[in-house]
Amino acid sequence: MSPFFSVFRGLNHQAYTGHLPDLSHSSYFCKMEKTLIISGGTKGIGRAIVERFAQEGFTLVTCSRHAEDLTHLAKALKEKYPKIKLHTFVADLSQKGEVLHFAKAALEAVPQIDLLINNAGAFRPGDIATEPDGQLEWAIRTNLYSAYYLTRALLPPMLKRKKGHIVNICSVASLKAYPQGGSYSISKYALLGFSKNLREELKDKGIRVTAVMPGATWSDSWKGVDLPEERLMAAEDVAKAVWSAWDMGPSAVVEEIVLRPQQGDL
Ligand SMILES: NC(=O)c1ccc[n+]([C@@H]2O[C@H](COP(=O)([O-])OP(=O)(O)OC[C@H]3O[C@@H](n4cnc5c(N)ncnc54)[C@H](OP(=O)(O)O)[C@@H]3O)[C@@H](O)[C@H]2O)c1
Repeated sequence: MSPFFSVFRGLNHQAYTGHLPDLSHSSYFCKMEKTLIISGGTKGIGRAIVERFAQEGFTLVTCSRHAEDLTHLAKALKEKYPKIKLHTFVADLSQKGEVLHFAKAALEAVPQIDLLINNAGAFRPGDIATEPDGQLEWAIRTNLYSAYYLTRALLPPMLKRKKGHIVNICSVASLKAYPQGGSYSISKYALLGFSKNLREELKDKGIRVTAVMPGATWSDSWKGVDLPEERLMAAEDVAKAVWSAWDMGPSAVVEEIVLRPQQGDL
């Protein structure tokens, strides 16, 4: 794979948020640029998170399978935040080789990792009895192995610094079975299991781990669905929750976040 690569360089955008500065996290206070590596930052929840952290002056690294979407993302962010530093790569994270290639490129692009968000994932409906052969393998590669391999590749520098935060975007499908959940739900249960194990492993190593379980959230997955806007959550609300988990003092960790539409699951 030859990664498409683009980067916007300039002074980091610094936004004073009005909080008392937190020594371990505030780029305002220590002037060190903070970095976020997030998979699948071009659309939906990932895109909203990218926007939220861009607003806070983070240096960003992201990927998706489509170069054109990454170019559009870079253009839009550059217009809004002219000083932003953004590194984008084309990578299909359902392929182990491409995950490792992305991880290597990301490590070369940023001096350190403050936050890793395993967001890339995809939904295909199906019941276990009738979904196509190979759907479980596809779901596990896309929704679990992507996060597992990326985390393993990026952990060594975090462990060395004894600092960092890993957020895994799971789902309410990690908590509850539902019709047509099939292999997607199995893979999201597994991702929550991954997240819980990681939390235990890293609690005495200075690295925080957060599992986010969103319910139905407007994104491409819901395109064309005939429902009023307020029936689903906005991706920006998930991004706000992720930001608040990041924005804790150094002695606290938000282990799990469950977010649902006000009217409940669909
Ligand atoms: N929306 C919901 O209702 C909902 C609810 C609970 C959990 N979630 C979870 O939230 C995460 C984001 O979902 P979303 O609804 O925001 O999805 P989305 O709008 O389809 O966006 C997914 C993002 O991930 C990228 N991506 C997908 N497959 C990839 C792959 N194999 N390799 C690299 N990048 C890939 C996509 O870009 P490309 O397509 O260009 O690769 C895109 O940037 C997923 O893990 C999903 O399971 C979503």
